[in-house]
Amino acid sequence: MNTTITLSEKDYISKGLHRKCYHHPEDSNKCIKVNYNEGAEEETNREIAYYKHLIKRNVSFDALAKYYGPVSTNYGNGHIFELIRDYNGETAIPLEKYFANNSLTEKYFDQLVTGLKELKSALLKDRIITMTIKSKNILFQHLSETKSRLIIIDNIGNSTFIPIANYIPYFAKSKIERTWQRFLNSIVKENSNNPLLIRLISVVNH
Ligand SMILES: Nc1ncnc2c1ncn2[C@@H]1O[C@H](COP(=O)(O)OP(=O)(O)OP(=O)(O)O)[C@@H](O)[C@H]1O
Ligand SMILES: [Mg+2]
Repeated sequence: MNTTITLSEKDYISKGLHRKCYHHPEDSNKCIKVNYNEGAEEETNREIAYYKHLIKRNVSFDALAKYYGPVSTNYGNGHIFELIRDYNGETAIPLEKYFANNSLTEKYFDQLVTGLKELKSALLKDRIITMTIKSKNILFQHLSETKSRLIIIDNIGNSTFIPIANYIPYFAKSKIERTWQRFLNSIVKENSNNPLLIRLISVVNH
């Protein structure tokens, strides 16, 4: 952990409000996230603490990108995660793109339904608590032409210190159910120009 990894703009994938994400220059299956603004550190630390909690509990990481630990880079301290790639080698893109585009929703309708159902089951099975679930923080990974998987890449964990939901399965389950329903509602609200989504959500809920 003493070596510094040199990142450059050719490694850049994308950014959110807090972090920039880069391809790991020495490992094509990993990415490195570096904070780039104030306020990012608190969120990142909370998330990393929760990742460590999940690793200790030995969860399966079906629903999440794996975490590999901290790293020092020329852009500052970063954290290494599993890079989510499609079967053709492309970096997977966020679910929000599939909801914002009617023809993509239509093309992948069945896979989206299955993916959402499986994601919810995986969260419940491993009792993974999230902050607000947003479609920009879920990647749609194509595993083959007909198979795919949804993976949460951001905003996991709990805001309260020593949260009861982390330890008591009943509270975890009800928190996951509430956060999940809010997420489904937000999909329809944020994409009011895409009428297919009302049907999609009702199929998912069925
Ligand atoms: N594991 C990953 N594999 C592939 N791409 C990723 C991965 N993690 C992040 N990305 C890309 O980098 C972008 C930014 O990452 P991330 O969402 O973690 O940043 P953030 O600043 O925490 O976001 P937010 O604004 O939601 O707080 C994502 O939208 C996604 O496109
Ligand atoms: Mg994000």
